Amino acid sequence: MSVGIERLAVYVPSYALPMADLAAARGVAPEKYVQGLGVEQMAIAPPCEDVVTLAATAGARLLRAARIDPRSIGMLLVATETGVDHAKPVSIFVHELLGIGPRCRVYELKHACYAGTAALMTAADWVRAGGIRTRRALVIAADIARYELGSAGEPTQGAGAVAMLVGSEPQALVLGEESGTHAGNVYDFWRPLGRREAIVDGKYSVDCYLDALTGAFGAFRSLERPALEPDEALTDRLARLLYHTPFPKMAMKAHRRLVEVDWRAARERWAAVEGRLDEAAAASYRDLVAPSLVAASRIGNTYTASLYLCLASLIEAENRALGGRRLGLFSYGSGCCAEFFTGIVPSGVATVSDAGVATALRQRTLVDVEQYERFVRAGDVGGDTPAGFTGDFVFRGVRQDRREYQHAEALAA
Ligand code: HMG
Repeated sequence: MSVGIERLAVYVPSYALPMADLAAARGVAPEKYVQGLGVEQMAIAPPCEDVVTLAATAGARLLRAARIDPRSIGMLLVATETGVDHAKPVSIFVHELLGIGPRCRVYELKHACYAGTAALMTAADWVRAGGIRTRRALVIAADIARYELGSAGEPTQGAGAVAMLVGSEPQALVLGEESGTHAGNVYDFWRPLGRREAIVDGKYSVDCYLDALTGAFGAFRSLERPALEPDEALTDRLARLLYHTPFPKMAMKAHRRLVEVDWRAARERWAAVEGRLDEAAAASYRDLVAPSLVAASRIGNTYTASLYLCLASLIEAENRALGGRRLGLFSYGSGCCAEFFTGIVPSGVATVSDAGVATALRQRTLVDVEQYERFVRAGDVGGDTPAGFTGDFVFRGVRQDRREYQHAEALAA
């Protein structure tokens, strides 16, 4: 049975801050953010938007686009590291807002940015296990990436959600059955209970990411080795490579590491690039990686959703040209757990290729640094929708310890 992603839908907050403006306010050369990190804009969530409204809006748009009866969803998984309660999962709020029926397994998953992949793999295994009724899961990865104002992490914030239907009629991506994994307890990025912003050891986190990539890709490559010609590079079998993207420059560094590991193992290829590895890796990056980074450079880090934002944006931009071709995907979650896996884009992908990325980017309102800081300082406390709000659901606030949500249309009426 083919199992994988039947369709994706993306939702990002309605507001974005140009990085050149942030650079000016922080006394930094704009080139550091725009070229050094590769970020042009970052998405900013207003106080009436929390991770529940982000996830529910992506989920509602997916179910509408796929014309799926919410009651047919047998598993709802929400991956996030922006949880709203220590006990109640984000997924149960989303379950109610989407009108999914009671016969559904519903829970939230956490392992930093890796949880989106944990949810996808769990859902795919559940579909593969089969059963009496058709198994179709809704997986949503959603996050608001926050660091302290003025910190080194500040330009690598962002927010957004990606919803994925996982089932046995995958029109967007057929998942391969094998993957390479890597895990180990490292303190590169974490958020102790009670803190809104993450603590991060930035430079060390980049090293941890690259070490985990080496481990996960190495594990995958050994599984694949019997199918490779003795001197064949695995990257030659992949049409595109997608990476967890906290900022686009990270994907560039990751690709440089990956091709080095891959090409060293393919002796003839290694002999051909030795001495000009940087140049060859940069050319490979332009062909295989850059096409998936357009949305990430305008949205920023979306933590659990980041890799799947790259996938949605790539499929939307290239759609039928990817038909029948194989993609490589690398997921990293700080702390850490990582996975390298592949998937084949089916030839009929054009019918599901619109994930709403271009529309969402077109509808956004650019804010200035003052407005951005007002939103951030207020936090996700709920309230009315600011001008330009485009989400389907609104967080109204906490009353008597309960979180209140409303359809945006009902609020406008
Ligand atoms: P920093 O110290 O501000 O920046 O922190 P830098 O000094 O390293 O400069 C960044 C780049 O800009 C460098 O490029 C500079 O050369 C360049 P590189 O050498 O690395 O190629 N640069 C310039 N370029 C052009 N013109 C200029 C100029 N000046 C400098 N004038 C850092 C950067 C990423 C560490 C920081 O933003 C940070 O801590 N971010 C948060 C952590 C992070 O994103 N880590 C990534 C790996 S961990 C991960 O992905 C997991 C995560 O998503 C969480 C999860 O799993 O849940 C974060």
